[in-house]
Amino acid sequence: MELREILKNLVDAGGTGGLNWHLHAFNSQKRWQTTVAYIENFLLHCKPRHSHLLLIGCSAGWMMPSSWLSQFELIDAYDIDPLAQYLFNWRHGSALRKSATQLLHHRQDALAHLPEILLEHPQASLWFDNVLGQHRYRVRNEAQVENELRRLKTTLLGRDWGSVHDLLSGPSHAALDPQVCLHDVRQRVYPYALDSAYNQSLVQSLYAQGIWFDHLTGCVFSDDTPTTLIPWEFKPRYWHWLQAGWQSPN
Ligand SMILES: C[S@@+](CC[C@H](N)C(=O)[O-])C[C@H]1O[C@@H](n2cnc3c(N)ncnc32)[C@H](O)[C@@H]1O
Repeated sequence: MELREILKNLVDAGGTGGLNWHLHAFNSQKRWQTTVAYIENFLLHCKPRHSHLLLIGCSAGWMMPSSWLSQFELIDAYDIDPLAQYLFNWRHGSALRKSATQLLHHRQDALAHLPEILLEHPQASLWFDNVLGQHRYRVRNEAQVENELRRLKTTLLGRDWGSVHDLLSGPSHAALDPQVCLHDVRQRVYPYALDSAYNQSLVQSLYAQGIWFDHLTGCVFSDDTPTTLIPWEFKPRYWHWLQAGWQSPN
C-alpha cells in the first residue's frame, strides 16, 4: 500500500471513520450523551441468541455500552479503520477483561466479505454498529447502495442480527432537546412506515433547514421488524435520525 493511501486510511478510513471520526466523537461526548443512553436502552432490550457476537463497524465503540458487550463470551470485531482496534481496546478492554469476554479484531471490509464471515461463524449474533448508513459514502452509485442494503436481510435470513444506522441527516435552525424530539415523533406517528411522507415528518420534527441527506437505509429492515427512531445531534444544529432494530430468526 502506498504511503498516501496509508495516511488517508488513518485520517478518514474510506470517508466513514478514522482519525476525523475519533476526534469528533471524543469532543462530542457530552452532546451525544442522550443519544448514547437511547442506544443503550435499546440494546438492553435486545436478547441476542448467541454468546458469540460479530460486531461490524466497531470503530472505538464510542456510542456502544461496555455493559452490553460484556454479556458475550466471544466478540469478533470488524472495521476497515487501522486505529479501531487500539481505541476500542482502550475504551472497552478493561470491562471485557472483567467479564472474561474474548475479543478478536479484524481489519476487513465486513460488508464486502459478509457471506464468508457468516459461513465462518454459523453460531453467532450480529450487530451492525452505525455502519450501514455510511455505505453510500464508500459506494458512490445510489442504485447499487440501495440494492445491496435491501438484499442484506436476505443474506442474513435465519440469523439473529440487529443494526443501528443513519436514516436521514441535515441541518436544523433550532436548538433542540433530543428528549423532546423523540417524544414528539412518538406522539405523532407511531408505529410508522418509512415512506416519504413519514420521512418528511421526521425532518420537520427537527426544524430542518437546507438540504437533508437520505442514507438509503430505509429498506434495511423488513416492514414487520419493530424498530426505534433515535435523534442524534451529530454536530451543533446538524442532526441525524438513527434507526435501531433487532431481527430474530423465525
Ligand atoms: C460512524 S462510524 C461508527 C463507529 C462505532 N459504531 C462507534 O460507535 O464508534 C462507522 C465505522 O464503520 C467503519 N466501516 C465503514 N464501512 C465498513 C465496512 N464495509 N466494513 C467494516 N467497517 C466499516 C468505519 O471505518 C467506521 O469506523
